[in-house]
Amino acid sequence: MASFVGQAILLTGASAGIGREMALQLARERTRLALAARNAAALSEVAVLCRERGADAIAIPGDVGVEADCRRLVERALEAFGRLDVLLLNAGQDMWARLDQITDSSLFERLMRVNYLGCAWLAHAALPALVKAKGRIVVVSSLAGLTGVPTRTGYCASKHALHGFFDALRVELAGTGVSVTIVCPDFVVSEIHRRAVGPDGQPLGESPMQEGKIMSAAACAARILAAARARRRLVLLSWRGKLGRWVRMFAPGLIDRIAARAVARGH
Ligand SMILES: NC(=O)c1ccc[n+]([C@@H]2O[C@H](COP(=O)([O-])OP(=O)(O)OC[C@H]3O[C@@H](n4cnc5c(N)ncnc54)[C@H](OP(=O)(O)O)[C@@H]3O)[C@@H](O)[C@H]2O)c1
Repeated sequence: MASFVGQAILLTGASAGIGREMALQLARERTRLALAARNAAALSEVAVLCRERGADAIAIPGDVGVEADCRRLVERALEAFGRLDVLLLNAGQDMWARLDQITDSSLFERLMRVNYLGCAWLAHAALPALVKAKGRIVVVSSLAGLTGVPTRTGYCASKHALHGFFDALRVELAGTGVSVTIVCPDFVVSEIHRRAVGPDGQPLGESPMQEGKIMSAAACAARILAAARARRRLVLLSWRGKLGRWVRMFAPGLIDRIAARAVARGH
């Protein structure tokens, strides 16, 4: 399997959850890591842990929902390492509210900016360097990027948009040596559920998930990195996700009911 040893990697959403785990796992391969997120203190803590594990890691605080920040992230990574082999687009935010309960509709724009536009801006800024390196673009989507999930209208829309954008980009990149991998996790233990915005646009504050019954962030990180190494096209991280993709073609109502039950049960 391909190794990331010595590769220059820009990883967004590295301060917590799945991104933090990916940073720590990548650090063991003596990678050069440009770590991005908004929380500067948490990010520099992760950078220190990565350096202790053998990586050359820098923290670049920034908001991926702001185009200028995305362009600066790429510039800073290139200044530091002189090249870019992997663009790992992981930063994301979630929501947990039915449309008829939402009182702050600005959440739709926020989710679109962070989950979709940030990835588009970063890919655009990093593309020349990735082509030069015959590198990898890795996008962390969700099963909610493939099917409708109740209480997630704006989140589903932002993740579906990623598939359209990066499927089109993959075709444009044919023959350049740059791969585009989209990974769709099922539920994972992380900060995202506690931070998900509720009907009033404020974070829920506590996770409604049954965390003992869902995938750990470390396991999810390892699966995403394996997909990236193998330059896979699309990887779904649960059996129900994989099965659902095919069943949906002839029994879409059944998949709707499974999605509704998963949200109601929290696993
Ligand atoms: N956990 C799940 O159940 C699950 C399932 C499917 C897909 N995913 C996807 O997995 C990815 C990682 O999520 P996670 O579960 O690890 O969530 P998490 O624990 O909440 O971590 C999210 C990361 O994204 C960063 N982030 C959020 N908004 C940002 C912004 N505007 N600018 C820069 N960074 C930002 C956060 O850092 P700061 O707050 O410091 O900015 C944090 O580092 C997301 O794309 C998510 O949609 C998660």
